[in-house]
Amino acid sequence: MNIDSLRSRLDSAGQGHLLEFWDSLSDVEKQSFYKELDSMNYTEINGFFEHSMQTLKHASDKLDDLLEPLPADVCGSVTRTDADKIQEYNSLGLQAIAGNNVAVLLLAGGQGTRLGVNYPKGMYNVGLPSGKTLYQLQAERILKVQQNATALTDKDCVVPWYIMTSEHTKEPTQEFFASHDYFGLKKENVTLFEQNLLPCISFDGKIFLANQHKVALAPDGNGGLYKALRSSNVLADMESRGIKYVHVYCVDNILAKMADPVFLGFCINKGANCGAKVVEKAFPTEAVGVVCKVEGKYQVVEYSEITLKTAERRNTDGRLTFNAGNICNHFFTMDFLKMVSDPAQESELKHHVAKKKIPHVNSLGELVKPTEPNGIKMEKFVFDVFHFATSFAVWEVLREDEFSPLKNADGAAKDTPTTCRQDLCSLHRRMMLQAGAKFVHKDGSEIPHIPSNQTKADAGDGQRTCEEFNEIVCEVSPLVSYAGEGLSSVVSGQSFQPPVSLELDKTGKVQMSHGVNNNI
Ligand code: UTP
Repeated sequence: MNIDSLRSRLDSAGQGHLLEFWDSLSDVEKQSFYKELDSMNYTEINGFFEHSMQTLKHASDKLDDLLEPLPADVCGSVTRTDADKIQEYNSLGLQAIAGNNVAVLLLAGGQGTRLGVNYPKGMYNVGLPSGKTLYQLQAERILKVQQNATALTDKDCVVPWYIMTSEHTKEPTQEFFASHDYFGLKKENVTLFEQNLLPCISFDGKIFLANQHKVALAPDGNGGLYKALRSSNVLADMESRGIKYVHVYCVDNILAKMADPVFLGFCINKGANCGAKVVEKAFPTEAVGVVCKVEGKYQVVEYSEITLKTAERRNTDGRLTFNAGNICNHFFTMDFLKMVSDPAQESELKHHVAKKKIPHVNSLGELVKPTEPNGIKMEKFVFDVFHFATSFAVWEVLREDEFSPLKNADGAAKDTPTTCRQDLCSLHRRMMLQAGAKFVHKDGSEIPHIPSNQTKADAGDGQRTCEEFNEIVCEVSPLVSYAGEGLSSVVSGQSFQPPVSLELDKTGKVQMSHGVNNNI
């Protein structure tokens, strides 16, 4: 340990306070703290900070004049594409999967502060009848999409799963998968890798201490992916497996379709090197980023970066002009991923700044838990690579089918365990109806699913409004059906009394349980 040299490096970077408690540390604490401090690049960190503060100064600047709508030829929509074409995309996607050319990459390095549990979000159980966690649902969707690709092509295949974790989520995630036997996937096809951390900094540029011998660190944002891909051997692993296409998604969307063959097929068909799955923005003031063009380059523009007038702009068909709501669900070719992970491109991605309440140790050595923002966290965003795209594709899907994120604890207005559970049940009820099933009361009368003008009070015997339908608990295991396929041969013409649950047993047979366990 050359403490004098470290001290002078820190002093010249204006971060000398980090050694304030040095003399009172134990030898073990000194060793690990020295290692941590010595490994940091203070010129780079100060540079990030200065740039971030500039960004904050311009936070209220608007981009309206630079914005361009998406060109029609890069866009497609599940609701405006005919069934044959969707089928064609689906087959194309499944063929790529069957050729072992597709990997899925999960962004799971976030701290989940709003949800407020002390374990990774993927381990959360939203209270489905099966008790499955987000990780289990995702693993089973991967298993099923592999089976669907094999069924189409007769080829065995693997969709390797890469999971980006951070210091906070890696170990528990690893243990969780190991203790659940990788939910039926092969261990060698599930790879965890870790993203980097950046120091949290006060508004006057001082790095915070988490305790007297540790810097306060936070993950460097989901755009930390590209640096992490470089520093782990994930890109090499993908290449050695012959991966050509990578589907990237967030851990918290309970409806996310891993390696969605339709989305893959659409992007492959367009010859895109970068693609985004989007949902239609619900209303002009919805606080969602929109995919559009800025000065000729693809970009996600946040609601705060445009004026209300621009947010309200509509096309002649009445749809919002900037309506491609980003849901953090992306397609990249392997070549594109390699290119944007190269330091030349990666270093061009700027940090976004969030003002946060950062717990830290003050100069008296006391732990302070601020009630007001006292500093910044710097994060890169996964979609900021869009501007490198030379061929882009945007696939619009239905929100009720594909997007319901878990962000907040129950009690919040949206994106809670309850809304996730309800949205998944809603999707599965619709899948069952589509497959020819009926939901019935105890007496066998049908629970109507079409809204009627009747209120509950004036509805006749056996007739109710669809309010009751909307409350039906219904869960279809991903192992039974990925997106409704194959269900009709199982449920068509049958009546189900809620709650309904379809699961695959160990022999591969579908077990249907209904009309029991009403205490969900
Ligand atoms: P969010 O921005 O919603 O953050 O992440 P979060 O950590 O889940 O929740 P809050 O904001 O602390 O409440 C969107 C996605 O990006 C991932 C998250 O795990 C989630 O899948 N993410 C976020 C990372 O992988 N790394 C990060 O540094 C930040």
